[in-house]
Amino acid sequence: MNSFDLDAWLGDRRGRIERLLAERAGGWRVGTPERLAEAMAYSLLGGGKRLRPVLALAAFEACGGLPDDEPVIRDYAVALESIHTYSLVHDDLPAMDDDDLRRGRPTCHKVFGEATAILAGDALLTEAFGLLADGPQQQRARLVALLARAAGATGMVGGQQLDLDMTGRRHGDDLPPLEAVETIHRAKTGALLAASVEGGAVAARASEERVASLRIYGEALGLAFQIADDILDVVGDPEQMGKRGRGDEAKGKPTYPALVGLDRARALARNARDRAVEALEGMGEAAAALHALADYAIDRVH
Ligand code: IPE
Ligand code: IPE
Ligand code: MG
Ligand code: MG
Ligand code: MG
Repeated sequence: MNSFDLDAWLGDRRGRIERLLAERAGGWRVGTPERLAEAMAYSLLGGGKRLRPVLALAAFEACGGLPDDEPVIRDYAVALESIHTYSLVHDDLPAMDDDDLRRGRPTCHKVFGEATAILAGDALLTEAFGLLADGPQQQRARLVALLARAAGATGMVGGQQLDLDMTGRRHGDDLPPLEAVETIHRAKTGALLAASVEGGAVAARASEERVASLRIYGEALGLAFQIADDILDVVGDPEQMGKRGRGDEAKGKPTYPALVGLDRARALARNARDRAVEALEGMGEAAAALHALADYAIDRVH
């Protein structure tokens, strides 16, 4: 497993994903008001690690996905990145985190204005489900339900609400308990990452047992990933991250470093990574990419 070349693997899969996204953004232009299409493409094609579609592909491949199911996994990959991108566009709005830099460029609302940024997010979300639902394969309905649950009121959107509820703590205020922040992280970030992995397995028609173990992997990786995001906000290089960082403390955000300090946050991220890797037991070499991605979730520099 140590010999797995993650950089080469990631380079190839990201290349495929970029092509799929560019193709879809082109398709979404047809009949769409120009300013809206511009804002959607600006955000969707503006870089990013593409981790959610990458995880979906990794799970699909690990479960022996067949060429017949490739249209489904391709649409799932695009849907995931569209929904993730919408979540970032809205997350950056003045009413939410109020950020002006994302993926190395001005945020969507800085370029197109708040109203169009809201609509671009709405459109990316809605079109994602339209794309995924459109096709003959049976797994599509299950993937739609899976993704809706992960992105919706008890998943990402619910997590964002809890995050906002706990934002703006002033010096001297009581800190929330760590379990509350874990709940936020599992919802706002973990749910979509878990659905990425689980959906890849579903698209590959994996056994229910395998789907369940990969879900556990995805949930643990998702928690590790958001703890790492919190840590990077404190210690990361804004240039490499393509976002400003150093904002969570000033905003009084519910983060692991704010609650337990950097060292303990790192240890908890590593624990979560270990739990993710444990869930891959029994998959052997087929899970090499998933194994490497669990390391990447916490060792990344952006
Ligand atoms: C940022 O996600 C928001 C979080 C959920 C932590 P990513 O770190 O995956 O952002 P991109 O897609 O690479 O820009
Ligand atoms: C974002 O968490 C989670 C989302 C659902 C978008 P953050 O607010 O910490 O993400 P960044 O740091 O702005 O990318
Ligand atoms: Mg946020
Ligand atoms: Mg933010
Ligand atoms: Mg952050």
